[in-house]
Amino acid sequence: MTDPKNFDVVLFPDPVLRRETEEITAFDDELKSVVEGMFERMFESQGVGLAAPQVGLSMRLFVLNDEGDRDKPERNLALINPTIKSFGGRKTSHEEGCLSLPGVHADITRPEKCVVRHFDVDGNEIEKEYDGFVARIIQHEYDHLQGVLLVDRMTPTDKLRNRPAVDELKAAYRQHIADRS
Ligand code: CO
Repeated sequence: MTDPKNFDVVLFPDPVLRRETEEITAFDDELKSVVEGMFERMFESQGVGLAAPQVGLSMRLFVLNDEGDRDKPERNLALINPTIKSFGGRKTSHEEGCLSLPGVHADITRPEKCVVRHFDVDGNEIEKEYDGFVARIIQHEYDHLQGVLLVDRMTPTDKLRNRPAVDELKAAYRQHIADRS
């Protein structure tokens, strides 16, 4: 594993973003340093959420801060082994981006509320209803744990509009692989 202090954001179409993720079983210091490193990377990258596969780890964990503000740690959430139990409220559409898909933006329709059962970093089990922007971030990050990306949820119109950015990412990845070998 990369040192959590040096986490980089994995870009589409790296296959780690599609890999199956595993439940976390040890709530230890290593987990705490992974969570810390993920928050650090998220804030550095000016994101509001980051899932473990995005730093190359196939683990069921994501972090978020709906204001993307490191000076508001009270808004930090780390969800470990999350399960979405139910959805509620209206369905709303809102533009989303993703740190693994720079330059790609799409209007995604999601329910405005969700009930999630998860653990915190100390291993306490929590079941809670989230709504608004936090619920949207949770659903986006939860998708990452299932290997689902924005490109899978886009409308045909958004797909067409984002094609140049997606093609550019694919070309950059091919180059990255070629450079490595
Ligand atoms: Co994302």
